Amino acid sequence: MSYSSEDSTVLVTGATSGIGREAAVRLAERGATVLFTGRDREAAEAVLSAVRSAHPESAGVFYRVDFADLDAVRELARTVRADHDRLDALVNNAGTSRSERATTETSADRTTEAEVELTFAVNHLAPFLLTNLLVPLLRETANNRPESAPARVVTTTSGLHERGSLSDLDAVVRGTGAGGDATFDGLDAYADSKLANVLFTVELADRLAGSGVTANCVHPGWIPQTGLVRNATGFSRLFTGAAALVASVAPVGPFESVEGAADALVYLARDPEVADVSGAYFDRRERATPAPEAADEQLRTRLWNRSAELVGLPASVPETDPLS
Ligand SMILES: NC(=O)c1ccc[n+]([C@@H]2O[C@H](COP(=O)([O-])OP(=O)(O)OC[C@H]3O[C@@H](n4cnc5c(N)ncnc54)[C@H](OP(=O)(O)O)[C@@H]3O)[C@@H](O)[C@H]2O)c1
Repeated sequence: MSYSSEDSTVLVTGATSGIGREAAVRLAERGATVLFTGRDREAAEAVLSAVRSAHPESAGVFYRVDFADLDAVRELARTVRADHDRLDALVNNAGTSRSERATTETSADRTTEAEVELTFAVNHLAPFLLTNLLVPLLRETANNRPESAPARVVTTTSGLHERGSLSDLDAVVRGTGAGGDATFDGLDAYADSKLANVLFTVELADRLAGSGVTANCVHPGWIPQTGLVRNATGFSRLFTGAAALVASVAPVGPFESVEGAADALVYLARDPEVADVSGAYFDRRERATPAPEAADEQLRTRLWNRSAELVGLPASVPETDPLS
């Protein structure tokens, strides 16, 4: 695989640690302008200095955004569109996993507020909203390129999406058990949000067919040494700690190094080999078959419409530009 030094702009969400951080630096090494998000300003400063020293022509811009706050996500999209005249790839990578149920409010129509479970909001609703608001810029970038290469949306999902279920969408949105009882299982909530990432990708690719923008998602492998389970407790942390020890000795089988995982993200965001692939699920750099729900058009439409309603976008997005 070879990447040339390039004139491109890529937005990586959740790049203040883990896979996203490594991917941001690798993109900068190839000369890209790297826009990135996170909540930790100190961690961002370290990424900025790594980006600056990666390549003489690379530049980094940090946006401090909490993805639990959908108004802040809307503001991010507005700022990116105002400050940059191109966006070659959007990497939806920010993600969280929690043991305790927490909720955030969406104020989609400014009158009624919906309470949404935090994992679902951060992992699915925020990238759903951000992507739909940035599609016009991605589309414009693709259309203005002399070589008319597609612009790309890459979303970091997880192999755990196979454990997810979206059949009771209201329960998933609220973060309660079926029927509204108070049980919350953090692993299920995470798996549901990652299944939503896959369905979102397939639906988005369908809606973007012929537009010059592709959409794919990727399971980056199991990388226990990232910060993903920092909000988890008990068994998850213990298990991850032990797995991190194994993985640091030999990233084999399902285990992956942070570098290997980041390489998969960069491959999907920039490599010419996959320029025309859209609507696909990858296990690292290999095309793979996602859970059967990905082929369920009715479920995809239900998730799309409900997500649009929750974030206050018309269900017709990305056909229409909500910011114009
Ligand atoms: N590690 C694995 O084994 C694994 C496996 C499959 C999939 N994944 C996926 O890979 C992606 C990256 O995870 P990672 O393993 O690299 O974990 P990580 O080290 O914890 O990185 C997560 C990134 O997301 C950001 N983030 C978390 N909550 C956020 C919020 N509320 N608002 C804005 N940004 C937020 C974090 O930034 P701040 O906390 O600084 O704000 C950080 O930059 C996630 O989507 C995860 O689901 C990971």
